Amino acid sequence: MNRPLHAVILAAGRGTRMKSPTPKVLFDVCGRSALGHVVDLARRLEAETLTIVVAPGFAEVCAADAGSGPPPPRMVVQDPPLGTGHAVRCALDALGAADGDLLVLYGDGPLYTEASLRAVLARHRETDAGATVLSALQDDPTGYGRLVGPPGQVDRIVEELDADLATRALREVNTGILVFRLTPGREVVAGLENANAKGEYYLTDVVAGLRRRGLDVGRVAVADAAEAIAFNTLAELSRVRAVLRARICREHQQNGVDIVDPATTYIDVGVRIGAGTTILPCTVIAAGVEIGERCVVGPFSHLRVGTVLESKAEIGNFTEVKKSRLGAGSKAKHLTYLGDTEIGRGTNIGCGTITANYDGRAKHATRIGDGAFIGSGTVLIAPAEVGDRAVTGAGAIVTRNTRIEDGEVYVGVPARPLRKGDRQ
Ligand code: UD1
Ligand code: CA
Repeated sequence: MNRPLHAVILAAGRGTRMKSPTPKVLFDVCGRSALGHVVDLARRLEAETLTIVVAPGFAEVCAADAGSGPPPPRMVVQDPPLGTGHAVRCALDALGAADGDLLVLYGDGPLYTEASLRAVLARHRETDAGATVLSALQDDPTGYGRLVGPPGQVDRIVEELDADLATRALREVNTGILVFRLTPGREVVAGLENANAKGEYYLTDVVAGLRRRGLDVGRVAVADAAEAIAFNTLAELSRVRAVLRARICREHQQNGVDIVDPATTYIDVGVRIGAGTTILPCTVIAAGVEIGERCVVGPFSHLRVGTVLESKAEIGNFTEVKKSRLGAGSKAKHLTYLGDTEIGRGTNIGCGTITANYDGRAKHATRIGDGAFIGSGTVLIAPAEVGDRAVTGAGAIVTRNTRIEDGEVYVGVPARPLRKGDRQ
């Protein structure tokens, strides 16, 4: 039987181990904040409500980051943060009398997959368990809460700091994801105590509380232990990013994208790449970029937000592209910056071309037509327009508001039309 599902994301921890003024859950993980990843996941599970518990002062920024839904996030401030159990208590106060199941997600764990969450929910719903825990079998369980109990069951979760040596040797750990019945879970959460090494109200103690009431607590293990990697330090954050990055590259490879060296390829979430495209090493591609089929990108390319490459376009060494579109078959192969630029089809952008799009106050656009040839070292001071099949000579400085008509040739500094008899 499917009871109504409510989701809560805990994001109010001080994150002291990060040693950074930025709230931990707002750190970027491959183009989306850690919190944003968890919010996306919660939304895919179609929970009726989504509650996000945040630290004082961060409700607005976290709400903006979470977007409007559905379901819209209900922001709850936990002041002061007294532990994960206390955070859930704050969420329950806001939730009122709602019944059903509460799924708890931690904002510092952006690597869980939808499949794992669906597995834990399915198990929970098909049993009479009071709660079901998502676990992970870790080679090195250091830092995690350990699951104690017979196979398939959990009697209690013991935090690292509270564990004796035998318990620390257990390798099946708490991922932090837990789903429990609001009745009687609500009462158990209300009764949590903080007599432990950290002096915090641990959510994990809900397990022992439900067991004391005679309810079963089940466990489901993630398929890949890497899903359970959360981050408490900047070093761990870089590990989390590396795991997600590898996963993103693998997905593109499965879709026919030849990524020559995933270890040095940085592709954010939400990037579209067509089949038959090759991504060469040391390339950075931001969230939202769209790359067509049979393109070549890299080595050492940087495709920033708003970049669109149509099929067979090529971006090469030390080329940065921002908020620009390259039409089919157009190329910018070397040492180039293209910002706020529209380029037609079959155009060649010579080595060292720069679109000077920023005058210190505002950004301006550059338009280049089809089949144009931009000579090496051209600077196009935006706004500027270059027509179809037009040419600029090497080293041309095209001054602002210049419009080069179709088929015209501009050369020099400042660039002007090449007349018969002129020499380059
Ligand atoms: C927690 C679990 C541990 C599990 C591990 C998985 C508890 C007591 N322990 O430990 O069993 O193996 O995660 O990564 O739950 N938060 C609040 N308010 C608070 C404290 C924390 O909202 O008062 C939030 C944090 O922002 C974070 C999450 O809860 O997103 C987890 O808190 P954290 O302090 O990182 O718990 P761990 O020590 O990692
Ligand atoms: Ca943590």
